[in-house]
Amino acid sequence: MPVALITGASRGIGAAIAMKLAGQGYRVVVNHRDSAQQADEVVAAIVAAGGQAIATQTDVTRADDVANMVNEVNQRWGGIDVLMHTALTPYVITSFAELTWEQLGGKLDTEMHAAFLVTKAVVPGMIARGYGRLIYMSALPSRRAREGMITLGTSKAALDQFVKYVALELAPHGITANLVAPTTVEGGTATRLIPPERLQAIAAGIPMKRLARSSDVADTVAFLASEGSGFTSGHYIPVSGGLE
Ligand SMILES: NC(=O)c1ccc[n+]([C@@H]2O[C@H](COP(=O)([O-])OP(=O)(O)OC[C@H]3O[C@@H](n4cnc5c(N)ncnc54)[C@H](OP(=O)(O)O)[C@@H]3O)[C@@H](O)[C@H]2O)c1
Repeated sequence: MPVALITGASRGIGAAIAMKLAGQGYRVVVNHRDSAQQADEVVAAIVAAGGQAIATQTDVTRADDVANMVNEVNQRWGGIDVLMHTALTPYVITSFAELTWEQLGGKLDTEMHAAFLVTKAVVPGMIARGYGRLIYMSALPSRRAREGMITLGTSKAALDQFVKYVALELAPHGITANLVAPTTVEGGTATRLIPPERLQAIAAGIPMKRLARSSDVADTVAFLASEGSGFTSGHYIPVSGGLE
């Protein structure tokens, strides 16, 4: 059975992706940092549905923790076929006028450090087996500026370009690297940070007239995780109901 490591899978989008991939026959690693109970509930739901999953408490911004997590999965299940990096490090919604360097530099550092560490940890095994699927969670503000989203948009833009370089270098090894970029997702962190009237305006501006659902994101991830996506690499795929 293929193995998928999903960072930030204790709730929201990551949990939906874990459930989706488990339903498609992957052994799933449900990573989280603090929410052990929620992660255990995701694992229990997968097992109850006949799938295989384990939870792992690991801070993806800490090098030793990430290396230990990947080593443990390799020893238990023999390797990692799919990395889905979903973990969301904190960010603020703010204007440039109010922005501090700590807010911008802090988000850039945690966003890129986590992506760097998890990629560094899984790629050697993928190269050794000549197969891998690397998938990262971006967001629409990385390409199109939106009011207040300067920290998230700038850090995700850096992630977008990092993934393109990773894709370029790893293509000869049978490893793909792609980004999924949802519009605002119902029930996610963004909907807790954004006022309800603003959310309504966002939904109204989406051609399909609703926010994204976690299941929309999981469906797109399932394609990128599959063997059949093997000639698709270095791409940024919006999940946005037609919004650019
Ligand atoms: N929600 C949206 O509208 C939206 C839109 C576009 C893109 N995205 C992107 O989608 C991804 C997930 O967003 P979300 O809204 O689903 O986030 P969320 O509900 O806040 O979930 C974040 C997940 O990341 C984990 N996490 C946070 N810091 C971690 C760390 N240092 N190490 C390991 N795990 C950590 C959390 O676990 P703990 O609770 O245990 O810390 C949780 O499982 C993010 O990359 C985000 O930028 C979200």
